Amino acid sequence: MVIKEYVKALKENMKKEVSSFKRKPSLVIIQVNEDAGSNAYVKGKLKDAAEIGVDAKLLKLPIDISEEELLKEIDKVNNDSSVDALIVQMPLPKGINEEAVKLRVDPSKDIDGFHPLSKFSPCTPLGIINYLKAEGVDFVGKNAVVIGRSNIVGKPAAKLLLKEHCNVTVLHSRTKKEDMDFYLAHADIIVVAIGKKHFLSDQPLKKSAIVIDVGISRDEDGLHGDAKPGLDVFLQTPVPGGVGLLTRVTLMENLIGAYKNGI
Ligand code: GUN
Repeated sequence: MVIKEYVKALKENMKKEVSSFKRKPSLVIIQVNEDAGSNAYVKGKLKDAAEIGVDAKLLKLPIDISEEELLKEIDKVNNDSSVDALIVQMPLPKGINEEAVKLRVDPSKDIDGFHPLSKFSPCTPLGIINYLKAEGVDFVGKNAVVIGRSNIVGKPAAKLLLKEHCNVTVLHSRTKKEDMDFYLAHADIIVVAIGKKHFLSDQPLKKSAIVIDVGISRDEDGLHGDAKPGLDVFLQTPVPGGVGLLTRVTLMENLIGAYKNGI
């Protein structure tokens, strides 16, 4: 099923489920940036929340806020028993320690899955795995190549693919071209998350390969993924209209999970 239809069906199910709840699940999004990508993402999250019938509030804080003040704002939401979930939109302004912020969010409210004690998995990799499962993909013993080693996508994607019994290789900016080509030629599942327009283009790939394009970059021609559209593979996710939608819908699933954990 194409991602748009898959996500639409999931959202309809969630809407039905939420309408049977005693109260609306509630999410607070803290944003401390003027990043165009973040603005688009936050707008999407608020739209999804409205569609599904959950409460989502955006708390936009001044870009020159100190780390201490930001941590205090996080504490307020942590201590507010009417709030089920809290996410702090990344990136944060320079001078604010991202790790300290991630560790301050109450793990039971951390539906981004950034805190080591969070019960939730990060939304992008989890959304990818769930989608591939719905497509009937068999992971066991498959060669999975993850390009990019970010904390938000690359590392957790590798962890979740390993949990599904894939042979996982993580490649990155220091990987030599001949090694990149070697691993790609043997890959059954490729997750590319580096934010470089059409990085995956003419490398020889298996015709049976699955390409999950997490990258998103913008230039005068519009939005582009990390993979050139129309690769000769079995399945390639589009950009836009691909992984971004999976991330957003998984956030809503995690929110419902946080609500249920609290009742
Ligand atoms: N910035 C980019 N992706 C994400 C995400 O999944 N969660 C948060 N909090 N910030 C992000």
